[in-house]
Order: sequence, then structure tokens, then C-alpha cells
Amino acid sequence: MKKISLLIGVLALGGVAIAHAQQKPAIDPAKADAVVKAAFPTANEVFAPRLMPDETMRQCSASRNNPSKAAAAAIRAREKAAIEYPADGNYMGDWKKGEALAQNGYGLRFTDYPPTRANGGNCYACHQLTKKEVSYGTLGPSLSEYGKLRDYKDADVKAAYEKIYNSHSALPCSNMPRFGANKILTIDQIKDAVALLMSKDSPVNTGQ
Ligand code: HEC
Repeated sequence: MKKISLLIGVLALGGVAIAHAQQKPAIDPAKADAVVKAAFPTANEVFAPRLMPDETMRQCSASRNNPSKAAAAAIRAREKAAIEYPADGNYMGDWKKGEALAQNGYGLRFTDYPPTRANGGNCYACHQLTKKEVSYGTLGPSLSEYGKLRDYKDADVKAAYEKIYNSHSALPCSNMPRFGANKILTIDQIKDAVALLMSKDSPVNTGQ
């Protein structure tokens, strides 16, 4: 009997815990915006606009990065429509410059204003790229042999450009920054990053 009541007790507690985990408090967007704004009272005119989420960030926050099918479709369409493509239709730049910007985390910090040089992409903070570089983050998947695994196909070159320009156009509510859309990188820099991923002689693909 004791055992049974203990079991019931455990089950009941478990039930409470599960019910608790499922109960997500409603988010009041205006309140959340005010808290974020108040946290950065000295934000300058370049930084301040970034404290206000755009429609995509709002949809991602409201769903805790788990948008409904309809919201995900809306995000994908909106973000894809905003991609600017290279005027000459060439998506590949210089992989050496791409490797340099992948290593470079300069930009967008308070201490980077006013900017003294071009922003970096900081790709290594989240991705493995070359085998030679042993220091990298794992928030994103390894991009080692990215082009080789895709047979260097033209469609994948374009897809890599779109992914880097605007990560949400491929995966709504991605954790990867929207490098082109948020003007972190220029079109030429994004082309350099694409070359790093998709050139046959890039160390990403030669395994060096
Ligand atoms: C803050 C972390 C972060 C940074 C910085 C970052 N990424 Fe990502 N990236 C991710 C995550 C997380 C994913 C997986 C989810 C997704 O696809 O959006 C991803 C996915 C990708 C993909 C798609 C992978 C696939 O399997 O198709 C590519 C390509 C990519 N990143 C390239 C880059 C490049 C190039 C840079 C630097 C210019 C970069 N990333 C910087 C987090 C990041």
C-alpha cells in the first residue's frame, strides 16, 4: 500500500512538473521591447535601431523560435524577397579573403564604433571550416568539405550565397546572423565566404 501511494505521489509530482513545463508564460512584446531598450541606455544611433526587433524577430520571439507552418512560410518568403544578388550574377569571390573574414569577429560591438575597418563574419565562432584551424564553435554544423560534398553544383553555390545573406530564408528562426540583410557583410564579402565554402582549391575542400 505504501508503495502504491508513493507511486501515486511520484506520478502526481511528475504530472505537475510536466504541466509546469508546458505552461509558457505569455510574452507581452511591448514589455519585452522596453526591457531590452532599458538595458542599453547608452546605445548610440547606429546601435539603437538593432534593439527593436523586425517582424521576423517578433514572430520568432513570440513562438520561441518554433514558428507555426504559416509563420515559417511567411518568414521564409519575406526574407528571401529581401535578398540582394550580385549584379554580375557571379556568387564566388576570393576564398582567401573569405577565410580571413571567417576568422574575424570585428564589428557590431559597442567598442567597434566608430568602425575603423570592415566587419568580419566570425564564422569560426559557430562552425568548423578548415581542418587546420583547431579553434571553432559548434553551435552550427561543421562546414568542412562543404563544396566537395555537394559536387560544387551551381545551385548549391547560389544556395550558400542566400544562406549567408539571409539565414532565415533557408531556415526560419535560425540562430545564424543575417549577414547581408543586417548589413554585417557586403555583397563582395559574402561572395568571398561562398568561395571559401564552394571553391575546389579552398582549404575547406582540400582538407588542409
Ligand atoms: C552565431 C553562430 C553562427 C555564426 C557566426 C555563423 N553561423 Fe552558419 N549556421 C549557424 C547555425 C546554428 C546553423 C544551422 C541552422 C541553420 O541552418 O540555420 C548554420 C548553418 C549554416 C550553413 C548551412 C549548413 C547546411 O547544412 O546547409 C551555412 C552554409 C553556414 N551556416 C555558413 C556560415 C558562414 C559562411 C558564416 C560566416 C560568414 C556563418 N555561417 C556564421 C550558426 C552560425
